[in-house]
Amino acid sequence: MKLAAEADGAVRGEAAVPGDKSCSHRALILGAMADGATRITGLLESEDVLATARAIASFGIAIDRDGDRAWTLRGGPWGSPPGPVDCGNSGTAARLLIGAIAGMEGRRATVTGDSSLRSRPMGRVTLPLERMGARFIGSDRLPLTVEGARLGGIAHRNEPPSAQVKSAILIAGLGTSAPVSVIEPVASRDHSEIMLGELGCDIMVDEGKAGRTITLGRSRKLQGCELAIGADPSSAAFPLLAAAIVPGSDVLVRGMLVNPLRTGFYEVLEEMGADIELTNERIVGGEILADVRIRHQALRACQVGAARIPAMVDEIPALAVACAFADGESLIEGLAELRVKESDRLGAIIAGLTACGVVAAVDGDSLRIFGRASVRGNASILTRGDHRIAMAFLVLGLAAQGPVEVDEAEMIGTSFPGFVDTMQRLGANIG
Ligand code: S3P
Repeated sequence: MKLAAEADGAVRGEAAVPGDKSCSHRALILGAMADGATRITGLLESEDVLATARAIASFGIAIDRDGDRAWTLRGGPWGSPPGPVDCGNSGTAARLLIGAIAGMEGRRATVTGDSSLRSRPMGRVTLPLERMGARFIGSDRLPLTVEGARLGGIAHRNEPPSAQVKSAILIAGLGTSAPVSVIEPVASRDHSEIMLGELGCDIMVDEGKAGRTITLGRSRKLQGCELAIGADPSSAAFPLLAAAIVPGSDVLVRGMLVNPLRTGFYEVLEEMGADIELTNERIVGGEILADVRIRHQALRACQVGAARIPAMVDEIPALAVACAFADGESLIEGLAELRVKESDRLGAIIAGLTACGVVAAVDGDSLRIFGRASVRGNASILTRGDHRIAMAFLVLGLAAQGPVEVDEAEMIGTSFPGFVDTMQRLGANIG
């Protein structure tokens, strides 16, 4: 299904943004490993997360959704699934589940996914897990069979910084009493650490000169609890980007996760001159939430160094669109990881910007964008099946001189079901 967006005045109002994807996967997987009931509110009901819910059920864990859209899991020992575990488009589901099964002695599962996921590297999780004693049949790509084992310890240096790799190791480490630590010269998102703490696991985080060290403590037993998930800053990035680039706009997102390891995009937007207001900050389940409002204001170019990328790794398509409308030459460095996301995002961004008449270039792992207040648009974008590429270029279309069409839009449902509806309610001409 194609979709097109066209400038039609300001976007204004409150944007309904669903729950955070990273936290949703973790809540299901960790809740399923905990003793007793875990009740999750605000779970993202997207295709990626529903794939994780189905996977958990295939391990024999009871999982129910009630009328209030709350999900309840009765955690405990996992069985082995009757067939392959299909993680759909989700790297987080695949990598975290591989970690979980690897540490469960006597369990066995084959993990697979769609064609995009089957082309993404898994060695980054299987290699450190093998050092802990995990056993796999397969190579760097899915499908991969995991044979659970009693694992030993590890002190893993998380380079390049990956929250998925860190989480796979910590989750695998729950089943052993051997020393398990992850050292991060550059911090990656810490939702696993926070949620493990909420579930009663003994986990220490030490900030030192060499970076962060995360260590599992003596008591690694998880106890079910209530988990409430905030709105996803990576999804909110699209309606809030629209507010930042469409003149006259004013958009509010309530209850957004503002964990500092996730807000890099918003910090850069502010440096570019965006008018961003945070109110009603509160702590829910160990995570910081806030209401975030952006009102349109002219943007200027930005300079972003590699060490800042992990805090905005999924927002680079949105940031690239902001840079297209920002006066001057923007430089974003350290984007190698973008080549192994749901698509080669660096390639997709440069091709999309060029098609829209924006002067941009890839220089090694860096992206240079020459922005101006007026962008031509009038383009048809190849999304390469990537949800965030589709949303970013549709938003570009809302501020461009001519319409922007994307070749596919169904996959937006992997992270932001209701995106089109949410944008239309703000007054955006997308359809
Ligand atoms: C995620 C971590 C990031 C991010 C992905 C979700 C997570 O990947 O791109 O969308 O939930 O841990 P890496 O950990 O591979 O950087």
